[in-house]
Amino acid sequence: MKVMVLGGDGYLGWPTAMHFSAKGHTVLAVDNYQRRQIALETDSEALIATPTLDERAQIFHEKTGKTVQVKIGDCADMLFLNSVVADFQPDTIIHYAEQPSAPYSMKGFHEAQMTLKNNLGVTFNVIWSVLQNCPDCHIVKLGTMGEYGTPNIDIEEGWIDIEHNGRKQKFLYPRQAGSLYHTTKVLDTDLLWFYVRTHGLRVTDLMQGPVYGLSTEESDLSDQLLPNFHYDDIFGTVVNRFLVQAIAGVPLTVYGKGGQTRGYLNLIDTLQCVELAAKSPADTGELRVLNQFTEQFTVNELAERVHRVGQSMGLNVQIKNIDNPRKEMEEHYYNAKHHALIDMGLEPHYMTDEVLAAMVEKILKYKDRIETRKIMPRVSWS
Ligand SMILES: NC(=O)c1ccc[n+]([C@@H]2O[C@H](COP(=O)([O-])OP(=O)(O)OC[C@H]3O[C@@H](n4cnc5c(N)ncnc54)[C@H](O)[C@@H]3O)[C@@H](O)[C@H]2O)c1
Repeated sequence: MKVMVLGGDGYLGWPTAMHFSAKGHTVLAVDNYQRRQIALETDSEALIATPTLDERAQIFHEKTGKTVQVKIGDCADMLFLNSVVADFQPDTIIHYAEQPSAPYSMKGFHEAQMTLKNNLGVTFNVIWSVLQNCPDCHIVKLGTMGEYGTPNIDIEEGWIDIEHNGRKQKFLYPRQAGSLYHTTKVLDTDLLWFYVRTHGLRVTDLMQGPVYGLSTEESDLSDQLLPNFHYDDIFGTVVNRFLVQAIAGVPLTVYGKGGQTRGYLNLIDTLQCVELAAKSPADTGELRVLNQFTEQFTVNELAERVHRVGQSMGLNVQIKNIDNPRKEMEEHYYNAKHHALIDMGLEPHYMTDEVLAAMVEKILKYKDRIETRKIMPRVSWS
């Protein structure tokens, strides 16, 4: 396959680009370093310094003999994206290129406007560059489980059958996101569904839960190939953040009561899911929605696991409930279906104590680089 990875410098994008290249596909990674720029602006740089995309592609080539082609540019700029798609003629576009931080999107007008324009702008350009250059190309779009919010009924995989006044129809599952960032993902889904209906695009929309981990087959070849690993309040996802807090001797910051439940997955499983989706594309005129996570936890359960593993490794781990900077339910019903990817062949890597301990070992090497001022929430929803 010819695979374009948009957002190829990112936490998920770089491991994905290496993974597809290692499997023998022709890979082009595209990025404009927006995340690095926001990290600088918000004092949220990653724990491990990552070389540029070109440098990482070079190191990957030296280690494996495999190639990841690189293009630096803004996918929200149609002239740029359209010419890249026209030249490369992808079979699959994996679209990660969005501003993914909920706190950043809630910081103020500028950040909210930038998130809205960037995320919708990139999705719109992806749609049109596919329509104009390669209408049969399969778009694999990263959405989020956060699109659904926390409804008081079971969460289906994207679609729900509604019976009303004796008549029935299947609709997109109702969505009510908890941040502007998550709302841009809802709008992305609607945009994609519109062009699927009207122009017959083939799209897989992956509703992904928060990802943890920094180890993949390819990133383990060299520390310079590790994904960008964030532990700050802006970009850090909760498990990655808790593990760094445990190592830094900072209490694990549970927002509010800690009963917030979400579906989580290991970075290795993100790669599996995206590969499974790419290998069996959605049909022409199909919006296929897959819920992409392997296990559900409350924040309290995550904190308890990190506490248990940290203590067993001689770390002094404390847990502290702090005021919740977000507006969200802290105790709620949550039961999200996630069968489709398993049926397609996903073999989950669960969050065992051994997996967390291996992450601690890896992060410990970078203990001196932890800056504790980046840990406490600096953005509030209200
Ligand atoms: N990491 C998670 O836990 C998680 C969970 C659910 C969904 N997602 C989604 O997966 C995708 C990847 O997430 P991530 O954690 O790797 O984030 P990331 O910020 O590390 O990666 C996104 C990449 O896209 C690039 N980018 C953004 N706008 C761009 C543009 N206009 N042109 C070119 N490049 C652009 C950024 O520079 C960055 O390198 C995002 O869409 C995110 O919303 C991530």
